[in-house]
Amino acid sequence: MRPEHPVYCLHPRAVTVATNWFLGNFPGTVLFAVKTNPYFVDTLSAAGLQHFDVASLGEIELIHAKAPGARMSFMHPVKSRLSIRRAYFEFGIRDFALDCEAELDKIIQETGNAPDLNLFVRLSVSNRHSCLDLSGKFGIAGKPAAKLLLKTRQVATRLGICFHAGSQLMRPEAYAEAMEVVSKLIRSSGVIIDILDVGGGFPSIYPDMTPPPLADFVNTIVTRFEEMPVSETCELWCEPGRALVAEAASLVVKVEMRKNNTLYINDGTYGGLFDAGHPGFIFPVTPIRQQTATNSSLAKFSLYGPTCDSLDFMPGPFVLPSDICEGDYLEIGNLGAYSMQLRTEFNGFDRTELVSVEEGPLLSMYGIARQNGTDGFHVVEETALHENTTLEGETT
Ligand SMILES: Cc1ncc(COP(=O)(O)O)c(C=O)c1O
Repeated sequence: MRPEHPVYCLHPRAVTVATNWFLGNFPGTVLFAVKTNPYFVDTLSAAGLQHFDVASLGEIELIHAKAPGARMSFMHPVKSRLSIRRAYFEFGIRDFALDCEAELDKIIQETGNAPDLNLFVRLSVSNRHSCLDLSGKFGIAGKPAAKLLLKTRQVATRLGICFHAGSQLMRPEAYAEAMEVVSKLIRSSGVIIDILDVGGGFPSIYPDMTPPPLADFVNTIVTRFEEMPVSETCELWCEPGRALVAEAASLVVKVEMRKNNTLYINDGTYGGLFDAGHPGFIFPVTPIRQQTATNSSLAKFSLYGPTCDSLDFMPGPFVLPSDICEGDYLEIGNLGAYSMQLRTEFNGFDRTELVSVEEGPLLSMYGIARQNGTDGFHVVEETALHENTTLEGETT
């Protein structure tokens, strides 16, 4: 087909498999973190997931439209007054996160002292076992956390504690350590909680990051939850993002130029490859070429994206046939999370196409990885060309 623009190859079956796994194996409530990739909400919903972690009015409107009747929890700890008001009165949202007294006051005021709030205090916990540290921005700890919990308890119908131990956790201990922090806080404050939300962080798999099986993460959470000072009716929630959708898309890009071991491709950090830039993620990559390779040896490459900015650089290394050249295509895999949503229009390189394909992902935590390399996709559905960053079903 030789597409001129980057093409997202979607593997919706991977979302279904991941959703079934979480719903079948996590002994509590599973929320999907919508920010990761709202495109797959229909598939998640069809697989039975009916509870969404939303962070903005845009996401709330999207879930309202795509999954009517599903429960939404507004887990962003700093919200605009308008979004709190509309969430409560217009969309029926009762679950709100907060990490300071000012946000608690805001929620109380904007909901008119509502008597039916489920309030989650977001704790700050170590992110040392994660590949993407999220600890700097949100969360409260120590004595101020104990004080906030007591104050929140007085106005909440149900009191929750939530945390995020960082994205792409490589060790189940991350949850054990965070849950220990929660236990200590519950003991020191004497507060009774109704819900523990262990957040996201469940990993996907990348060439240089092979985490333990997801079951190890869930087992650790379950074991530690049983030891916590909470009542038998305390609910356990989790909010996976990456682990539910990462395997569900790959991006086919074209090589426009080769300079030594650097390839200039037609998508980059301002497009769908943000995480390959500064965070330095190494995604699985495989060539798609018309001619049979003349030289089967492999070499390490770095990638430049199409914009003028030299920050549009993806160090990798990405291992490819050493004779890769202009005109070849690359399939960059496991890009279902934090890619489609992060695209910008910078420099006019915003066009992508979406197709659904039958092939599985390049790497899988769920045992569904494609067995052989690919020399072509079996396209089952083509979606219209997207000329800007607005995805189908998304509100702007
Ligand atoms: C509140 C919250 N929950 C869940 C997630 C999803 O995290 P992950 O993709 O690591 O599972 C995020 C991601 O930033 C988040 O901020």
